Amino acid sequence: MSAKLTKADRPNPINEEIKIDDEAVLISVTDPKGIIREVNDVFIEIAGYNEEELIGAPHNIIRHPDMPQVMFKIVWEHIKDRENVMALVKNLAKDGRYYWILTDFVTKVDASREVVNYTAYRRPICKDVQNAITPLYKALCAIEDIAGMEASEKFLGEYLENKGMTYDEMIEDIIVKHCKKAAALGFGNQMADDFKTMSTEKKQSFWNKLFGIK
Ligand SMILES: Cc1cc2nc3c(=O)[nH]c(=O)nc-3n(C[C@H](O)[C@H](O)[C@H](O)COP(=O)(O)O)c2cc1C
Repeated sequence: MSAKLTKADRPNPINEEIKIDDEAVLISVTDPKGIIREVNDVFIEIAGYNEEELIGAPHNIIRHPDMPQVMFKIVWEHIKDRENVMALVKNLAKDGRYYWILTDFVTKVDASREVVNYTAYRRPICKDVQNAITPLYKALCAIEDIAGMEASEKFLGEYLENKGMTYDEMIEDIIVKHCKKAAALGFGNQMADDFKTMSTEKKQSFWNKLFGIK
């Protein structure tokens, strides 16, 4: 097997987006430490690495520098607690291009509640959703550059407090308000207001209809 890719091997980002088929689902499975154990064909195709390079590599291999560190802290806090979580993620392909996806992280546990693995299901998101999250990510990255992740975490906490939302509610709000698919399905701004009081089952059905990933 080839030597695993390290941070130093990471490509230089170029400002060019990879278009992903609307129906595509990019899947990867990691062990409890975040080492990639399985990937599907679409994941391989979009990431641009071959399977041998990916299997056994840490998942940060596709990390884009435009992604704030604090977002991954949120993801890991949830999945280590065996809670599902969604994140809007910009990833870096081997050729330096980027692609945006909505990622649903799912934790699999054994009978004694020990983590067996983590699976990420990713669906492409439209430009409006990207544009809705980008200013926040830019602010968080700028804060991290200057003052570190503790400062960006504090900023995000205050940002959410001002919005009167939890992290999960912010993601839902952005999708409902900005995702063209949501609008096409008849969901819209009025749905965003309903979301806070919606039952888990109804929300699940919404995500199923929208992305088929929950
Ligand atoms: C199942 C799973 C999927 C992940 N998918 C991604 C991904 O698509 N992109 C990414 O940058 N990080 C992903 N991560 C998070 C990485 O493990 C890592 O926390 C992140 O890239 C930040 O890495 P760094 O702290 O070394 O910079 C995933 C983690 C898990 C458990």
